[in-house]
Amino acid sequence: MFRNRDVLSILDFEKEELEKLFSITRLMENVAICGTNILEGKILGELFFEPSTRTRLSFQSAMYRLGGSVISLSNILASSIAKGENLADTIRMMEAYSDLIVIRHKIEGAAKLAAEISNIPIINAGDGTQHHPTQAMIDLYTIKKYRGKINGLNIGILGDLKYGRAATSFIYGLTLYNPNKIYLISPESLKPRERVLKILDQKKIEYGLHNDVKDVIDKIDVLYVTRIQKERFPHPAEYEAVKGSYRIDLKILENAKKDLMIMHPLPRIDEISLEVDKTPYAYYFKQASLGVPLRMALISLILGVVK
Ligand code: CP
Repeated sequence: MFRNRDVLSILDFEKEELEKLFSITRLMENVAICGTNILEGKILGELFFEPSTRTRLSFQSAMYRLGGSVISLSNILASSIAKGENLADTIRMMEAYSDLIVIRHKIEGAAKLAAEISNIPIINAGDGTQHHPTQAMIDLYTIKKYRGKINGLNIGILGDLKYGRAATSFIYGLTLYNPNKIYLISPESLKPRERVLKILDQKKIEYGLHNDVKDVIDKIDVLYVTRIQKERFPHPAEYEAVKGSYRIDLKILENAKKDLMIMHPLPRIDEISLEVDKTPYAYYFKQASLGVPLRMALISLILGVVK
């Protein structure tokens, strides 16, 4: 099911496969506390061509807690890419030095290219504007852990739904389940792409397009907030037009359900007020911490030390 498998898009997975991953993640939550040496002698190779805190460090933490090691190329200027080495040759070198490669790149399809070149498994740690499959796995697991289910929930997704790969991957992940309704909330210029809406239509998932979270906050069980992806806008003026256009604060939450879960893939800029962190609505730091056991489970399954 997972052995030697590339992880390129959440859409490549069946619900049953995710459920298997989640059952191992549950075990790994305990294993992470004491650590283990089941991956002694194994090396994870990281190729990060874009900045990261959570994804890069949680993969490292996961590998170390399993007894393995990590080699990392994250400072491009300190690598031979600065001398002009191409991506394909860089992937070939990492393949020679490690057992599993995790790659992040600004160009959509970079992880797929890596998988075509490499004979060892590739995990997409985010490429372009559409795919960040391990983030979507963490997000789905977080909802299942704290709400016990995904089916039947009203899920709001707020923010940059055009350029945000975490938001798009989360939408794709939800299509493997049966949420009651997805509320897609964004400035008009940051609506989801047609191909995303087409998949929702194909999977017969009910959704609504909205511009203001205040209009729907009272209906939502899980609100997934995302930042505006400033670095992906082709023109600075396009970013300036939407900057600061939404913010979750205590005033908005006066109309929320009492058990609303607020999630965020992070990093947060200004879209969730700091005062929300202290409320029972805030799940985003718990969500980020689950990145370690989930990635422990995924690595163990792919390398075949857990079945
Ligand atoms: N959620 C996420 O991908 O965070 P980083 O960019 O810090 O890895």
